[in-house]
Amino acid sequence: MHGRIAILEIDNPPVNAGSHAVRTGIAEGIARATENRAEGAVLLGAGRCFVAGADLREFGQKLAPPDLPQVIALIEAAPFPVVAALHGVALGGGLELALGCDYRLADPAVELGLPEISLGIIPGAGGTQRLPRLIGGARAIEVICGGARISGAEALELGLVDVRADGPLLEAALAFLAETPRPKRRTLDLPPPGEVPGTLDAAEQRALRRGKGRPNVTEAIRLIRAAISGDAGTSAALADERAVFQRLRVGADAKALRYLFFAERRAGRVEGLDMGLARRIDSVAVIGGGTMGQGIARAFLAAGLSVTLVEQDAAALERALGGIAASLDAQVRKGRLGADARAERAALLTGTIEYDALAGCDLAIEAVFEDMKLKQDLLARLEAALPAGAIIATNTSYLDIDTMAAHLDDPGRVIGLHFFSPADIMPLLELVRAARTSDTALATGLKLARRLGKQPVVAGVAEGFIGNRIYAAYRHRAELLVLDGAAPEAVDRAIEDFGFAMGPLAVSDLSGLDIAWARRKRLAQEREQAGQAAAPRDPLVADLLCEAGRLGRKTGKGWYDYSGAEKGGRPAPRPDPDVAALIDRAREEAGITKQEFDPRSIQRQLLAAMVNEAACVMADGIAQRASDVDVTLANGYGFPRWRGGPLYWASGQDRGALLADLDALAQAMGPGHRTGPVDAILNDFQTRKEG
Ligand code: 3HC
Ligand code: NAI
Repeated sequence: MHGRIAILEIDNPPVNAGSHAVRTGIAEGIARATENRAEGAVLLGAGRCFVAGADLREFGQKLAPPDLPQVIALIEAAPFPVVAALHGVALGGGLELALGCDYRLADPAVELGLPEISLGIIPGAGGTQRLPRLIGGARAIEVICGGARISGAEALELGLVDVRADGPLLEAALAFLAETPRPKRRTLDLPPPGEVPGTLDAAEQRALRRGKGRPNVTEAIRLIRAAISGDAGTSAALADERAVFQRLRVGADAKALRYLFFAERRAGRVEGLDMGLARRIDSVAVIGGGTMGQGIARAFLAAGLSVTLVEQDAAALERALGGIAASLDAQVRKGRLGADARAERAALLTGTIEYDALAGCDLAIEAVFEDMKLKQDLLARLEAALPAGAIIATNTSYLDIDTMAAHLDDPGRVIGLHFFSPADIMPLLELVRAARTSDTALATGLKLARRLGKQPVVAGVAEGFIGNRIYAAYRHRAELLVLDGAAPEAVDRAIEDFGFAMGPLAVSDLSGLDIAWARRKRLAQEREQAGQAAAPRDPLVADLLCEAGRLGRKTGKGWYDYSGAEKGGRPAPRPDPDVAALIDRAREEAGITKQEFDPRSIQRQLLAAMVNEAACVMADGIAQRASDVDVTLANGYGFPRWRGGPLYWASGQDRGALLADLDALAQAMGPGHRTGPVDAILNDFQTRKEG
């Protein structure tokens, strides 16, 4: 008690998740404040934030009472006003708790949000009912279904927060209560604000498009609409929300998404690594300003790092700097970046063709052409130009980093930082720990990933590391399905129906068929040099397309024809009779009998290829843990998040059927195929999951 005001502080590090103990504590606090005849109460969080939501670790079981709606009901029924004093974040159940209080006061840097949709559920403690009453239905749909975070300034403007607290939060809250009598005020009693006709429908359409048919999105919209119409009555609507939440919480989507939530946090950790070794990074060099170099530079600039871009000649440098400037301008035009922020980023960027300019850099990353000799020479040059101890990184997609670094005085400085295109947008960053990569380089890479807001995954050296290696096996299977009789569009559709945004052949067209072509040629050469006879079956058609100049979208034709009408600003892929004829010819020449494939067997074969290669990756020790494979595929390759990732998915399948798919895969791939220890990996995975 502070005079007649009760202070309830939630202290459950690290993020004050609303565990059973927290819920009980608040309920008891309200009861004690009532006994003590409090005239008001302040509810606040200790440490770094208010409350980051319900404790997700409890979600696999029955939730013990009091549940959050009961706690909120106690706050609403308390005979005194309760002020939520917010700082850091108030997310999910944390924001719902605050919405159940009579007043909200916030630190200006606070961020509010309801991220439940991204966890396969809906807000389960009144979020769909209280938020629309404060900010309107359309905005509530955006916040709930789009997972948008609301800044302190916006929350104040929207009326979600009543007062901005400058200075110490508790003092501000006490002053707020002392200033004038603060009557009880239930959010649920407020009428929803009026809205421009049509905005609710438009928001709903956008949310449904983004929501890709997931059931929680449709449910959330239905409940927000119920809050706006008020037809069902408040308590029925709240009960409806809770019932939907409880059902979804134990459903397949939510389980997979919770698994990924914790897997993603684990992926950034390396057992036994001293993170204290991480070097401070303020200034970085990016060598090569092509597609990747420009994207990587933009990612660094967005994180406030100073960037020196190095190109091979003045013309290439001008092109690269021009490309970055144009991309920043486009972001301003689209409203994603403010003019001031654009100017700040531009001021952090310099370009050069002289390596002397690298003398002050803490880290350099190369993104030049994918060529071993070129990269080896470049790394030696970087070692000479950089200050002692600076980290040298490579963005190579496939090349052996041990070989690349072998000739350096200190190969321990070298690490792979494998970004994905576009590097400033894609969340994944594979950190490749080569045989001699030092702990300092690895710790620095992990810390840098966090600063860039990327999802790190640590990989070992292997052709394609974790992601590209598995993806290449999947693409190979797709191409063989085509050779054996499935139409390209049938292959793509089968995996799109599983939840991928695009099938593997459409993706090849997008990134250019020549990249994989060059890789196939290199691998064939390497195999020949090594005297290795058996290789998996050659998919043939992809090579023929390349030889015919069909390199994908950039040439207007690839697996598909792109000369037709646009869809979403891009030419839509159209099945091409020329490709069908080319496939038939290839099949005949190779003496292959055309087979029929139903959509399900196509889908199962594509997944089997991923699962098999994932098991090989695990067996080779390229990934630290099975869940890292899932994190990689979900964050960098479009594996549908609500399915958890290939190994999580596989662990939920009938084992016999899966093993039969793997047999069929081995048959189709031919003699050079390597069968991974899927059964053993999944048994181990299952044990860990259940443990
Ligand atoms: N439950 C349990 N643990 C949680 C948690 C939660 N809701 N949120 C975070 N944690 C844990 C993390 O697992 C991590 O633990 P670790 O150190 O052992 O790995 C630790 O807290 C720190 O988390 P981060 O590494 O993510 O820290 P960041 O600073 O990067 O991010 C954050 C902090 C923004 C709060 C982020 O953790 C986050 O987004 N948390 C989840 C928020 C959320 O989804 N809340 C909604 C939950 S569902 C709900 O509330 C239902 C309701 O409607 C009834
Ligand atoms: P790119 O061809 O678009 O760009 C390469 C750039 O490097 C060119 O601008 C070129 O002028 C420059 N360059 C070449 N030699 C140089 C030198 N000696 N000094 C300075 N600059 C030099 O290639 P892209 O696509 O950006 O790929 C770069 C690297 O990133 C490759 O290793 C590639 O495998 C890898 N990568 C590519 C991805 C992609 O989606 N394109 C994804 C992830 C990695």
